Amino acid sequence: MEPKIVALTGAGISAESGIPTFRGKDGLWKRFKPEELATPEAFFRNPKLVWEWYDYRRQLIAKAEPNEGHRILARMEREFPNFYLITQNVDGLHQRAGSRKVIELHGNIWKVRCTECGKEDYDYRVPLPEIPPRCDACGGLLRPGVVWFGESLPPDALMKAEKLARDADVFLVVGTSGVVYPAAELPYIAKEFGATVIEVNPEQTPISRIADIRVPKKASEGLREVYEFLRERYGSSGQG
Ligand code: OAD
Repeated sequence: MEPKIVALTGAGISAESGIPTFRGKDGLWKRFKPEELATPEAFFRNPKLVWEWYDYRRQLIAKAEPNEGHRILARMEREFPNFYLITQNVDGLHQRAGSRKVIELHGNIWKVRCTECGKEDYDYRVPLPEIPPRCDACGGLLRPGVVWFGESLPPDALMKAEKLARDADVFLVVGTSGVVYPAAELPYIAKEFGATVIEVNPEQTPISRIADIRVPKKASEGLREVYEFLRERYGSSGQG
């Protein structure tokens, strides 16, 4: 039986691509207030301000390249037939690095959704020519296709992620502070259902307590070690 290997990533995996994380010393939530920028109330109060912030982040992400950490996870997907990736990130860097089986729990920053007619699209223009952008079908106000505080996660993505956590033999947690639920619940579910939990993070998190293996390193270096460990433990099909 092929082992089921599931990875959960957070902002830390993209830190080496130059994209700021949310918490920690240079984190976005140190400089900006989430309640003014990342809630539905904030958006309807001041769509222009919220869109300017997303436009700024879209510009940072557009300039960034996937790093070694993203690439190793893409290689794991090619090498292990039962490898799946769950991410809290909205930057799309996993897909740009070659990962195909990606579950996006918090949406995608390149997605836009009409608040009137519900039409969804991808818009990769940076900067956006018009802020706030409008729906080309009905003229309604568009919003970023991300999950804000106080909103539910896409039910299908969450259900799939929970099932993966239950079925995992190895559950790899990379670059997340493990404080935002329900994503933060997944390592606990995996542990309860018998997975080996491996955490790659230079800092301790609440998940560290339940980790069977802790790799206190940056994602690129830490994942290189985990990759070797998994190849030793489960063998290599030589496709990586
Ligand atoms: P955080 O900013 O909360 O946590 C980032 C984690 O990455 C921290 O634990 C850091 O120690 C770690 N880290 C930093 N550099 C790293 C590196 N080079 N390699 C590995 N780890 C590193 O980000 P998330 O946990 O992803 O939600 O945050 C969860 C959610 O909170 C986000 O998805 C976002 C945010 O508000 C929404 O927007 C809904």
